[in-house]
Amino acid sequence: MTSTALEVRLASRPHGWPTEDNFEIAEVEVPTPGDGQILVRNVVMSVDPYMRGRMNDVKSYVPPFQVGAPLDGGAVGEVVASNAEGFAVGDHVLHGLGWREYAVVEGKHAVKVDPSVAPLGAYLGVLGMPGMTAYAGLLVTAEFKEGDVVFVSGAAGAVGQLVGQIARLKGASRVIGSAGSADKVKYLVEELGFDAAFNYKEGPVAEQLAAAAPNGIDVYFDNVGGEHLEAAIDVLNLNGRITMCGAISQYNDAEKPAGPSNMIQILAKRLTLRGMLVGDHKALQQQFVAEVGAWIASGQLKYSETVVEGGVRQAPSAFLGMLRGDNTGKMLVQF
Ligand SMILES: NC(=O)c1ccc[n+]([C@@H]2O[C@H](COP(=O)([O-])OP(=O)(O)OC[C@H]3O[C@@H](n4cnc5c(N)ncnc54)[C@H](OP(=O)(O)O)[C@@H]3O)[C@@H](O)[C@H]2O)c1
Repeated sequence: MTSTALEVRLASRPHGWPTEDNFEIAEVEVPTPGDGQILVRNVVMSVDPYMRGRMNDVKSYVPPFQVGAPLDGGAVGEVVASNAEGFAVGDHVLHGLGWREYAVVEGKHAVKVDPSVAPLGAYLGVLGMPGMTAYAGLLVTAEFKEGDVVFVSGAAGAVGQLVGQIARLKGASRVIGSAGSADKVKYLVEELGFDAAFNYKEGPVAEQLAAAAPNGIDVYFDNVGGEHLEAAIDVLNLNGRITMCGAISQYNDAEKPAGPSNMIQILAKRLTLRGMLVGDHKALQQQFVAEVGAWIASGQLKYSETVVEGGVRQAPSAFLGMLRGDNTGKMLVQF
């Protein structure tokens, strides 16, 4: 086995949009696992929008990345040495130390995954954190009911592609999505069965959403914030619900973004706007995997992944590409 390996560090904190210069690739000694630990050779890793927030030096629900230290995040790899009970060489594990070729992981922080049940990348996407976000954010946070009209932004991304399909499979009367290209809009309608979709770059969201939702909407699953949120508040029906899952249109803002100008409608229409964090929904894990796994197996639910080859050296550009919208479905980096 090789004695050195690569990791990606935060070289500097971005102000506004990050660039490749904010990352540094470093060569380090392959670490040795201690008692209760395993050494994992990463095979595939995730780049996620929340990582942009961790590049800022602000207190949040996850601590910020440190300048000069390696980044971390979801990854799946193969166990190459084990001092932890229950893990053997050759096992595959899901863990939180991506952005590096080799990781020493505490056994208690690794979850065994089975490549014969699903491709390894699926544990970072459709059957992993983004999948659970879609499932819990729609069914629990938004209190989805059969017959609801559902609108989801970021609809062709990892979370959004599942929100729309879960809504359809659970009996939504109409599913509407927005995304940033004509190809993505086509994918939503022709491949995933959305009733309507629009390209938010082609005109005001309020106008396009009103045209796609002649009878209003009951649920807005917000991945984007800003103009999308304001437009959704405008068309939400009485007692409508908003899941505030993300606000990616604002993650690279250097200045404080303006809030929606129509918040008073929340009162007038008795809307509910509720934030959600996927980590609060661990109790749903078994139900989520059983239900979504069955839909995938029966072909009722489809998903895309955009896989960037080349390992950690390509991770920064994959991350930047995801922020720009280069991905359809989950953005992954293959080692
Ligand atoms: N609350 C939670 O626990 C939780 C967990 C996971 C994810 N999230 C949030 O869920 C959202 C989606 O995450 P994901 O992992 O599924 O990412 P993703 O949708 O797979 O990738 C990000 C997408 O955001 C879109 N985007 C970028 N800038 C935009 C803008 N200015 N306006 C509209 N869309 C823009 C791009 O697609 P286009 O081509 O369509 O622009 C891009 O593909 C993010 O806001 C993320 O922070 C929250």
